[in-house]
Amino acid sequence: MSRAVDRCDLLGEGRFTDAPGMLFRPYLGPAHKAAVEQLTIWMEEAGMSVRLDPSGSLIGRYEGDGPKTLLIGSHIDSVKDAGRYDGPLGVMLGIDCVAALHDAGRRLPFAIEVVAFGDEEGSRFPAAMLGSRAMTGQLDAKALEIDGLEAALNAWGLDPGSFLTARRDPAKLVGYVEAHIEQGPVLEADGLALGIVTGIAAQKRFAVTLTGIAGHAGTNSMGLRKDALAAAAEAVLAAERVARAGPADLVATVGRMEVLPGAPNVVPGEVRFSLDVRAGDATTRDKAAEEICREVRALAAARSIGCEIAPLHDLPPAPCDPAMMARLEKAVAAIGQPVRKLVSGAGHDAMVFAGLTPMAMLFLRCRGGVSHNPAESVLPADADLARDALLAFLDILSEEYDG
Ligand code: GLV
Ligand code: MN
Ligand code: MN
Repeated sequence: MSRAVDRCDLLGEGRFTDAPGMLFRPYLGPAHKAAVEQLTIWMEEAGMSVRLDPSGSLIGRYEGDGPKTLLIGSHIDSVKDAGRYDGPLGVMLGIDCVAALHDAGRRLPFAIEVVAFGDEEGSRFPAAMLGSRAMTGQLDAKALEIDGLEAALNAWGLDPGSFLTARRDPAKLVGYVEAHIEQGPVLEADGLALGIVTGIAAQKRFAVTLTGIAGHAGTNSMGLRKDALAAAAEAVLAAERVARAGPADLVATVGRMEVLPGAPNVVPGEVRFSLDVRAGDATTRDKAAEEICREVRALAAARSIGCEIAPLHDLPPAPCDPAMMARLEKAVAAIGQPVRKLVSGAGHDAMVFAGLTPMAMLFLRCRGGVSHNPAESVLPADADLARDALLAFLDILSEEYDG
């Protein structure tokens, strides 16, 4: 039994999802709102005062004896047909740590804020990590021009004009810590419950539009048609080929594709798709992304298909803070677990805090390394170990803390 896991399970269905028969909790939707309401109750029960910041991140604050604040965060939005633990588990573990301090009547030399970000995945708008990027001052007014964002904020009673005031002064922060499922198979293969992240891979995302000519599927002979989907199929294979030819940490994914007009008897006139490219270092990622884009433009030109590639998202690699990592190592050892370090190929809100405030991440094993999939699974005992490691980390940080 783990309360954190049970709470993620509760948030996995019913009013906490916006799609029937699957978990889908996009930013600023009704399910996100329901999750915010439920988390407010849990945060208040754990002794926190709760507020929603102007970007829709829910923040529970537990006062400390000093003026600075340690952030413990993760996200509560989800991909489509998601698992239950990618994001929410880190928030629940943060709440459980504060609940333990509250029950013991303890205050630390710094305040703790548990943050539930509303947009990490980028499932609703063509942007991702809007909450953590607003909090770290990495957005400008242009971010609000995203189609539909202003209306969605207004529908929540949030003032779009205040969005950028979600920014926090790094001088007032002690650091940012995030617990998250690994979303990969390494810890399970090593028989370990916990891992300490050394850094997060660099990501780039693009929106690609290929434009051909829609036409009758029966009358357009093969040599004359301009089929945007046939070009898109070649583009997907080009992305796969380039990434396969690179180092093991280089990955490229086309995860979303829209075919227009989308009828069995119409040659596809337009295809829009996403392209996500990642690697441990920015040079490898950029080289691969450039090569893929070059190939896509060339194959489109060879078919006389129009091609537009718009960059959506560019996050540099994010090294974790060595001192924070060392404290997590001590904490994991203190609860009797082996210390295992690993890189994160998945993106996390933590990455936008890198370089602005000391950032660290604790990974939990997940079954089969499966994530972004409803089969995501975590052992309750592992979640309890993660909570204990985070509590030990808070003790170590408090002992070493010099304001
Ligand atoms: C988030 O889960 C990402 O890595 O895209
Ligand atoms: Mn995810
Ligand atoms: Mn996540």
